Amino acid sequence: MLALLFLLLPHLSSSQLDENERIAEYHKRQHKWPPAEAEFTPQTPGWRNLHTRRFQQITRIEDGTAKYNGYMSTVHSALLAPNFTEYGWALTKGPSDLVELLLARLITGINREDTPVELPDADQGDIRDEYPEELPLMVSIYGLHQRVLDELLPIHEAWSNTKLIGNNAYGLRVYRNQSNLQMHIDESATHIISSIMHIGHDPDGEPWPLVIEDLHGNTHEVFLETGDVLLYESSKCFHGRPKRYNGKWYSSIFTHYYPADWNPKRNEMNVHYRIPPGWHLQPEEVVEDLDELIVTETSFKEPGCEHEWCALKKTTKWTMPQELQHGQIISSDGVIKPLVKESEDEL
Ligand SMILES: *[C@@H]1O[C@H](CO)[C@@H](O)[C@H](O)[C@H]1NC(C)=O
Ligand SMILES: *[C@@H]1O[C@H](CO)[C@@H](O)[C@H](O)[C@H]1NC(C)=O
Repeated sequence: MLALLFLLLPHLSSSQLDENERIAEYHKRQHKWPPAEAEFTPQTPGWRNLHTRRFQQITRIEDGTAKYNGYMSTVHSALLAPNFTEYGWALTKGPSDLVELLLARLITGINREDTPVELPDADQGDIRDEYPEELPLMVSIYGLHQRVLDELLPIHEAWSNTKLIGNNAYGLRVYRNQSNLQMHIDESATHIISSIMHIGHDPDGEPWPLVIEDLHGNTHEVFLETGDVLLYESSKCFHGRPKRYNGKWYSSIFTHYYPADWNPKRNEMNVHYRIPPGWHLQPEEVVEDLDELIVTETSFKEPGCEHEWCALKKTTKWTMPQELQHGQIISSDGVIKPLVKESEDEL
């Protein structure tokens, strides 16, 4: 991916060939820019507006690498990735026994006096460089990852109405004071139907919302408690925790699945060929009131707004409704629904 990217940069002499090849492929596929309304997936007006604004922001990015990365994430999310659910996210409850077990491991891990937590993992490069003291840490749950993946599989399959293959369960990740996570989509071709199962947090800490955009272009803030599971289409819907956490510790486990008939390789090249010719040029026309967007690898932020994300001015806030039972979900429409597979035969 990175190698490809450097080859693409227009100021390198050998790159023009590759860019010409890419443009030839773009035309061969009869792509047009701006994309037709019908190309947005799904075709809701809110989704189209959300990403039309984002594409305009990307045209104003000056750094070539950042700009290309901005296109890669946004073209994938807005146009090419299919959606599996109506809203792209939902809230449900995790299996109680499993949650209790993980909570016990978490408490043991954070109370251990000699080595309270393991070394930071290596996949938070951006956050690490800027704020080394605010890295997330890991509490190990030796041997439990497969169990988490297996036990949560039916929930993900029912929600997405799709036969899935487990990719990985990751955690327990422990965020600490002042942590944040900029908005992004999961880039990996294997993180399609995912979840965050919340295990626990500092009881004296402040509520810390997970922010997610739905498939109608609305932004939600979800406040998770122990055992709550946020299901989400993780390489489709931008999500993150742009607000900084104020508290000592906050821990969840992350699981990722992909459809059984998925072709992970196909995706990235299709996105690459969908980026418009002249993507690296600055636009001539001026769009008023467009907030600046900064892209760092896959992370997006808008420095002109509070918490570096402008949509936080207008969100819907969610906590698990008291009356929601195991086997039920709630999403953007606020209606509690049973979590059942629509077509048992197909799965
Ligand atoms: C994709 O999203 C649209 C808009 O919410 C919805 O109408 C459609 O049913 C979704 N597709 C699937 C497979 O759920
Ligand atoms: C977290 O950091 C902020 C800013 O430095 C500080 O004001 C706050 O007291 C800290 N909170 C905890 C729980 O350590």
